[in-house]
Amino acid sequence: MKIYVLNGPNLNLLGIREPDVYGSGTYEELCSKIRSYGAEKDIEIEIYQSNHEGELVELIHKAFFAEADGIVINPAAYTHTSIALLDAVKSVNLPTVEVHISDVSAREAFRQQSYIRAACIATVAGKGFDGYIEAIKLLENQVKE
Ligand code: DQA
Repeated sequence: MKIYVLNGPNLNLLGIREPDVYGSGTYEELCSKIRSYGAEKDIEIEIYQSNHEGELVELIHKAFFAEADGIVINPAAYTHTSIALLDAVKSVNLPTVEVHISDVSAREAFRQQSYIRAACIATVAGKGFDGYIEAIKLLENQVKE
């Protein structure tokens, strides 16, 4: 099983960025946690982060051409603005889970809109770094079905 984990803008600054909202764990710690879970479950995991919308679109295409079984994506602020990311997920038609570290439903009004959600099989929000593991588990179940 192969899963692509994609992270959007400013997530490279986890640990530095608003620790009261996103916690004190760093981006590297997030990646290690995901990689350890992948190793434990024998899942091939590719993790990417980009601050650029078009690059995230291309990473979604890359997941398709690499024959990934699914995508976990935290589009960060592009969640609330990007039809291009929605269209990319619809284009490749891979099972995709949307993840947010914070509980976006309890935050500002502008964070209530998610364009990508319409193309995702599930959303996991407000569970910190554990949300990424939950998202991978959802994809594991999806692939088993
Ligand atoms: C986020 C929530 C978004 O609203 C925000 O723009 C982010 C991170 C989260 O993981 O909680 O950059 O996706």
